[in-house]
Amino acid sequence: MEKIRIIGSPEKPLRGKVTISGAKNAVLPAIAASLLTREKVHLTNIPLVKDVFTILTLMSELGAEYEINGNSLTIVTRDVIRHEASYQLVRAMRASILVLGPLLARHGQAVVALPGGCAIGSRPIDLHLHGLEKLGANFILEHGYIKAEAKKLRGTVIEFEKKTVGGTENLIMAATLAEGETILKNCAQEPEVADLCELLIKMGAKIDGVGEETIRIKGVSELGGTSHDIIPDRIEAGTFLVAGALTRGDIHLDQVRPDHMTTIIEKLRYSGAKIEEKEEGSLRVQGSEEIKPQDIVTSPYPGFPTDMQAQFMVLMTQANGTSIITETIFDRRFLHVNELLRLGANIEVHGDKAIIKGKTPLSGAETTATDLRASACLILAGLIAKGETIINDIEHLDRGYERIEEKLKQLGASIERISTEKENKK
Ligand code: UD1
Repeated sequence: MEKIRIIGSPEKPLRGKVTISGAKNAVLPAIAASLLTREKVHLTNIPLVKDVFTILTLMSELGAEYEINGNSLTIVTRDVIRHEASYQLVRAMRASILVLGPLLARHGQAVVALPGGCAIGSRPIDLHLHGLEKLGANFILEHGYIKAEAKKLRGTVIEFEKKTVGGTENLIMAATLAEGETILKNCAQEPEVADLCELLIKMGAKIDGVGEETIRIKGVSELGGTSHDIIPDRIEAGTFLVAGALTRGDIHLDQVRPDHMTTIIEKLRYSGAKIEEKEEGSLRVQGSEEIKPQDIVTSPYPGFPTDMQAQFMVLMTQANGTSIITETIFDRRFLHVNELLRLGANIEVHGDKAIIKGKTPLSGAETTATDLRASACLILAGLIAKGETIINDIEHLDRGYERIEEKLKQLGASIERISTEKENKK
């Protein structure tokens, strides 16, 4: 077991340069998409995070062979030898259900464990299943597993009742090999969905409306191999922008896509931070002494991302006045609040709203990370909290951030990873 230890201070600006990794939420569907072809798919700019290794374990079980070289991955599934995503893997990473669409399209069968509840509220997969059913798949639920089969998927019109990133991705992948045309309406428009479409187009898919709410897919009989560069992680970049604003620092971010981060940048500028696009693919953030409070409502892209909500909450604890954050995507996504209270924050939760009263000085404490973005939020809080902050359960952090403690250290933070064993021996 490992922990993060931070010695924080309200007067320790982070300064320097940081390189942003490839997007976790783009690489996971890209890896799942490689199941749609017998040929090699070569992905560059992959982040070396735990979720990537989890999906690669699943892919190996299904018959894939892969090789990682630095931040490049070559993966090939000549034959699908199994078609099951086990409960252990789906429980470790919900995105494992992304193999459902590709398996059905290529192999005609799939068995996937139902994800069940997770730390940030119940996250059903009804919209994935409903869409695949409309394409011609049949499902039965047995012993906690969805058993799916489809002799042939057939294109049709599907309108998502609610925007779903994973659901849109699963349906796009399935439709690429379906017979005829599929029209998907009310699609999630996240850059990661568009990146998946770009990859599929390179593999030979016929997709119109990339990045739009309505996507049209003309099924083809087979897809081929290709190479694709994964887009930068806008949430990791956003986390470092908040770190710059929060510590009144001066940070240069390399390998970013500011056009994917418009709402995040807008909100940070409103809070008082100075953000400039230096040259293509790079951003500079300079924090200001005075942080302005503001209200934020999370919503599907291009709205404010739920994955940045926890990090922004820390910034709002340092704003001069009251801010309200409304979480509309996931229920129970305020678990980090209790941890922030332990550091001295003044936050009240009423249903889907968190009311943050600033400015409150934070003081270091022992905390526990409850999910991926909550871990990032605790790290940010630890940077400005006086004294020592310990963050337990950092396996959540490792799921989605590549070497975050090393990157922060380079910027001047006093942060280290310690193993519990080492601690016990003290
Ligand atoms: C993805 C991201 C996650 C992000 C989330 C929302 C990945 C690997 N993960 O998760 O980091 O926080 O988008 O931006 O890309 N829903 C249903 N039925 C379904 C599917 C979803 O009701 O069948 C609901 C969910 O409970 C949630 C909302 O739709 O309230 C959005 O979820 P969705 O966009 O599907 O999230 P994920 O794809 O799981």
